[in-house]
Amino acid sequence: MLNWEELGKACTGCKKCNLGNTRTNIVIGRGNIEAPMMMIGEGPGEQEDMKGLPFVGPAGKLLDLLLDALMIKNEDYYIANIVKCRPPGNRAPFDEEAEKCLPFLRNQVALIKPKIIVCLGATAMKYIIDKNAKITQIRGQWIERKGYWIMPTFHPAALLRDESKKIPMWEDFKKVAEKLEEIKMENHF
Ligand code: URA
Repeated sequence: MLNWEELGKACTGCKKCNLGNTRTNIVIGRGNIEAPMMMIGEGPGEQEDMKGLPFVGPAGKLLDLLLDALMIKNEDYYIANIVKCRPPGNRAPFDEEAEKCLPFLRNQVALIKPKIIVCLGATAMKYIIDKNAKITQIRGQWIERKGYWIMPTFHPAALLRDESKKIPMWEDFKKVAEKLEEIKMENHF
């Protein structure tokens, strides 16, 4: 396992897949590295690629509103993606790209040791929970695995395209906020 400094260096120079040739910046993650919760999205979009930070574009703004409304604070989470480089045109990452990148994410999870992992959307669900699951079927239900509480829910970008996902996503995040409070009380975060 790499420490944060080693991980940063390994990511910065990474050319393990073709996404390394088209990225502007690598997007490793942001937030509290000692947080009780991690959120995982798909991959950087245009703004993220420009700034080198995850969820700083329109989907990120929407996610911020949701988190604010539920009083989930910046210090409560760390956020990252399945792939660290922007897939051209914001397509979903190919399997090969995701598989090459996942060891970095696993390393981040091992360093942070979150109690809660929120999978934002089908791509995160696919690589973290189950390749064959359907996000519409498994979202909103806790999965307890290897000591993590994992919550699959929609990606905030899906909400921008489809308003009907707003209420279910709100319900899912209410469960996340409740669990987070419980965990913070138990563990004196
Ligand atoms: N969508 C993602 O999945 N990740 C980001 O960082 C931004 C948008």
